Amino acid sequence: MSSFWNWYIIIIVLGLIFGSAILLYFTHNMGTGDIKEGESMGHSFDGIEELNNPLPKWWNLMFWISIIYGLGYLALYPGLGSYQGILGWSSTGQWQTEMDKAENTYGPIYEKMAATPIEELVNNDEALSMGQRLFSNNCAVCHGSNARGAQGYPNLTDNDWLYGSNPAQIKQSIMMGRSGMMPALGAALGEEGTKQVASYVRSLNGYSVDVEAASQGEQKFKMFCVACHGMEAKGNQLLGAPNLTDGIWLYGGSQKMVEQTINQGRSGKMPSHKDLLGEEKVHILATYIYNFAKTAE
Ligand code: HEC
Ligand code: HEC
Repeated sequence: MSSFWNWYIIIIVLGLIFGSAILLYFTHNMGTGDIKEGESMGHSFDGIEELNNPLPKWWNLMFWISIIYGLGYLALYPGLGSYQGILGWSSTGQWQTEMDKAENTYGPIYEKMAATPIEELVNNDEALSMGQRLFSNNCAVCHGSNARGAQGYPNLTDNDWLYGSNPAQIKQSIMMGRSGMMPALGAALGEEGTKQVASYVRSLNGYSVDVEAASQGEQKFKMFCVACHGMEAKGNQLLGAPNLTDGIWLYGGSQKMVEQTINQGRSGKMPSHKDLLGEEKVHILATYIYNFAKTAE
C-alpha cells in the first residue's frame, strides 16, 4: 500500500473516532442554562415541542465503551492502513496456524501409516476411511464417487486392471500417473480392415459377428495389434494395453465404438499425484484402492 493511501485511511478512521468522542463530550457537557429537565427548550415546530431530555447515562456510556473498544481493536489487530497491530494477527497467519495444527495432529498418523506395507495397512479400518475421504476429494471427479469409473475412466473396483492390481503397481499408477497410447490405425487398416478387426475383437467377447469378416480381422490383428495386446489379446500391463477378451470396456464394446477406437486411437491420461498429495497420502490412497482389488479377485 502506498504511504498516501496508508495515511488517508488512518486519518479518516481516527478522525471519525475522535470526532465522535469530541461531539459526545460537548453535547453532554454544554449545559442547558437554567431550563430544568423535562421542561421546554423554547423551540416548537408544527405542534412538536423540544423538551430538555438528556440521553440516559447508560446510553452515553455505551458510546464511550464502543469508542474505547474500537481503539483497542485497532491497536491489537490490523485495520489502520498497513499497520499490523500489536498481536501481529493476519488471515494467512491464522490459516498457517490451522494448517500447522492439522499437520501436527495428522502428520504422525500419516507417517506411521506410510511406514506400514500396503498388504498390512489394508486391514486398518482407519486407513481405509482416510483413504475414502482422500478419494472423494481428489479422485472422484474422474473415477466416480464409488470408484466405478465412467467411459474413458477405468472402474477401480472390478478385477480388470490396465496397469496391474498389486500394491506396488497401484501406488505407481497414482504416484507417477499413467498415459495409455493406443495409436490411430484407421489409415493403415482402411475402412474395411477396421471393420474386420473390430468384428474379430468383438468375437473374442462372445458377440455374434460376421464370421467371414472376423477371420479376415484375425489375420490383421496378428499383424497390427499383437505387439501391444498380445497373441491372445489379453493385453499387456506394462503398456496399459487392455485385455480385449474379458467383456469389460474402457471406451465401449459396440461395433461402432471398437471401430472408433481403432480408427482414431485413444490416449487416456491418469495425472501424477506425487507433487499434489505427497507420498504419504498416496500410500493411504493406494491402500484404499488395493482393498477393492483384493476383494474383487
Ligand atoms: C483427470 C482425471 C483423473 C483423476 C483426477 C484421477 N484419475 Fe486415475 N485414471 C484416470 C484415467 C483416464 C486412467 C486410465 C489411464 C489410461 O487410460 O491409460 C486412470 C487410471 C488409474 C489407475 C490405474 C487403473 C488400472 O486399471 O490399472 C488407478 C489405480 C487410478 N487411476 C487411481 C486414481 C486415484 C487414487 C486418483 C486420486 C488420487 C485418481 N486416479 C485420479 C483419470 C484420473
Ligand atoms: C502401441 C500399442 C498398441 C497397439 C499397436 C494397439 N493397441 Fe489397442 N490399445 C493400446 C492401449 C495402450 C490402449 C488403452 C488406451 C487408453 O488407456 O486410453 C488400447 C486400447 C484399445 C481398445 C479399447 C479397449 C476398451 O476397453 O475400450 C481397443 C478395442 C483396442 N485397443 C484394439 C486394438 C486393435 C484392434 C489394434 C490393432 C489394430 C490395437 N488395439 C493396436 C495399445 C495398442
